[in-house]
Amino acid sequence: MITPTELLFYCRPGFEPDLAAELADKVADLGREGESRFELDTGFLRFVLADGEPANVLHRVLPLASLVFARQSLVALPTLSLSREDRLSPIVDQVVESGWSFDSLWQETPDTNEAKTLAGLIKALDRPLESLLRKRKALRRKAGRRRLHLLWSAGDRVQIGMSFPGNRSDLSGGIRRLRFPHGAPSRSTLKLEEAWHEFVPKEAWDSRLAEGMQAADLGAAPGGWTWQLVNRGMNVYAVDNGPMDRKLMATGLVEHVKEDGFVWEPPMCLDWLVCDIVDKPSRVESMVERWFVNRWCREAIFNLKLPMKRRWPEVSLCLGRLAEALQEGGIEGKIQCRQLYHDREEVTVHVRVKE
Ligand SMILES: C[S@@+](CC[C@H](N)C(=O)[O-])C[C@H]1O[C@@H](n2cnc3c(N)ncnc32)[C@H](O)[C@@H]1O
Repeated sequence: MITPTELLFYCRPGFEPDLAAELADKVADLGREGESRFELDTGFLRFVLADGEPANVLHRVLPLASLVFARQSLVALPTLSLSREDRLSPIVDQVVESGWSFDSLWQETPDTNEAKTLAGLIKALDRPLESLLRKRKALRRKAGRRRLHLLWSAGDRVQIGMSFPGNRSDLSGGIRRLRFPHGAPSRSTLKLEEAWHEFVPKEAWDSRLAEGMQAADLGAAPGGWTWQLVNRGMNVYAVDNGPMDRKLMATGLVEHVKEDGFVWEPPMCLDWLVCDIVDKPSRVESMVERWFVNRWCREAIFNLKLPMKRRWPEVSLCLGRLAEALQEGGIEGKIQCRQLYHDREEVTVHVRVKE
């Protein structure tokens, strides 16, 4: 039997050091020890627990939803180096040796151009691998919805991971691919759409993203985010000195406010505040803080732009300040923050006040 003593995380290539810094803080807060191992720009990171401690325990207390820079979180076995003559046997043997069984198999690669060239090889291995795993009872029709992940970082390098329902991304590679909506005026539109998928459960869309709701979009031009709000039938104050898309304005649902988003105040309490202004994270955070403390909105989605080198300390500082301000203002709210697939050098924050 081999016990998994590593966690395997997927992330945006280039953000491995940020994920490592985040994990160092969060794992220490949980009173546990371990070490991140990664190479820059590879899109994944191994977190190896100290003293061969089992990884399942840490995995349970460190939910994926609580992590900013991780796209996927798996309990993992040691990386395998394979020979080209027989790639399959060592994989199947290791899975069997772990003692775990699964009801599905996902073969994945990190989100890099280099790794994507492995797609053909992976596809060719899929059928034979499945059939061998079934023969050895490691793949079964029902196995607690546990999923077996194979992360291929090269043609001869694979790491076996496992995921559990409720604490994983159910998207391949942890990536939410969205189709660009016809008529939206900018590519940024996908950031807000992805944020809604991430932070608003599908069954709540009709009540929380409802027709007739009132929203403000700060830094709105040319209107990608406003387009999403209008697409849900909302009325939008689009605050930006820049020009807004003409077709969007023709809907009659948008009021273009040519003012500074950091000082503009809404005429009443709104349902949504969204903000995509490129500015210092701390400046954006204090602006959002002001909105909630003054009860100008119930729910918000905003980006923190992170052009700096040490991104996690900046994010952590802003989230800490916001949580403190809400508490001091007597506002019960939930704050979530994640780097989404459509986010580049930025993360997305969601805040919702309890009704
Ligand atoms: C990244 S773009 C927003 C793109 C928009 N979310 C979209 O989907 O089309 C940032 C915008 O913020 C605006 N901006 C910058 N500083 C601002 C401020 N203080 N108040 C309002 N808008 C501001 C810029 O004019 C720019 O249009």
